[in-house]
Amino acid sequence: MPSSKSVPHLDARLSAAAEFVRPGGIAADIGCDHGKLSAWLVGSGRCPLVFACDLRPDPLSKARRACAPYGDKVQFRLGSGLEVLRPGEVTDIVIAGMGAQTIMEILEAAPWVFDPAYNLVLVPATKHSLLRRWLAVKGFTLQGETLAHAAGRWYAVMNARYTGNPHTPTGLWCLCGLVQGQPGAEEYRAQQAGKLKKYRRGLPDGPEADGVDALIAEVEAGKWP
Ligand SMILES: C[S@@+](CC[C@H](N)C(=O)[O-])C[C@H]1O[C@@H](n2cnc3c(N)ncnc32)[C@H](O)[C@@H]1O
Repeated sequence: MPSSKSVPHLDARLSAAAEFVRPGGIAADIGCDHGKLSAWLVGSGRCPLVFACDLRPDPLSKARRACAPYGDKVQFRLGSGLEVLRPGEVTDIVIAGMGAQTIMEILEAAPWVFDPAYNLVLVPATKHSLLRRWLAVKGFTLQGETLAHAAGRWYAVMNARYTGNPHTPTGLWCLCGLVQGQPGAEEYRAQQAGKLKKYRRGLPDGPEADGVDALIAEVEAGKWP
């Protein structure tokens, strides 16, 4: 085992993601790119084995370099989403740094993750609300969420598990998730409200616009889900 000094430094976003990976779990780092998370998970001893996966060869080469000190504790897979894994090959799945739409498509394409055995750690780069809504509607439960500030903005690091209990959450819940009370929660809510207002400006008047206006009013009144 390399000394802990050689383990890469993770920013707040990836550090929060790593915290949701279960100790002893076999993890997949989907869209691993630079490979820092994969390297950290094995280098820190949190995971005995990690699959570093990426759609493109160049990022995967970067990950190979970052993970070289850890030998066969990191396996590399080239391809899209979860197609590169067999059901049961991993226990924990991290998908970080992609838009919500891509994350949803990756999960949709792998029905085997609709199973409580898998611990999902999702860090959408955009459209957090859309991902929260999709998870609830598809029967996933958000077990935890951590706000992380990185590269000048707030990220929501989500920990989800399939529970087979689909439901349609409120707009306020989709917007704010579980972050109330965390450091940065008010700033995060303001960031989310700003995006919602921008979305509203592109909407014609009508029932959808009325719904968005009502949600903006709730946020501005200081409500939390
Ligand atoms: C912005 S980087 C994120 C890197 C790292 N996960 C992080 O959060 O810092 C996005 C990576 O996802 C990869 N990617 C995009 N779509 C993918 C897909 N469908 N399957 C696997 N990897 C994908 C890209 O090639 C790129 O390396």
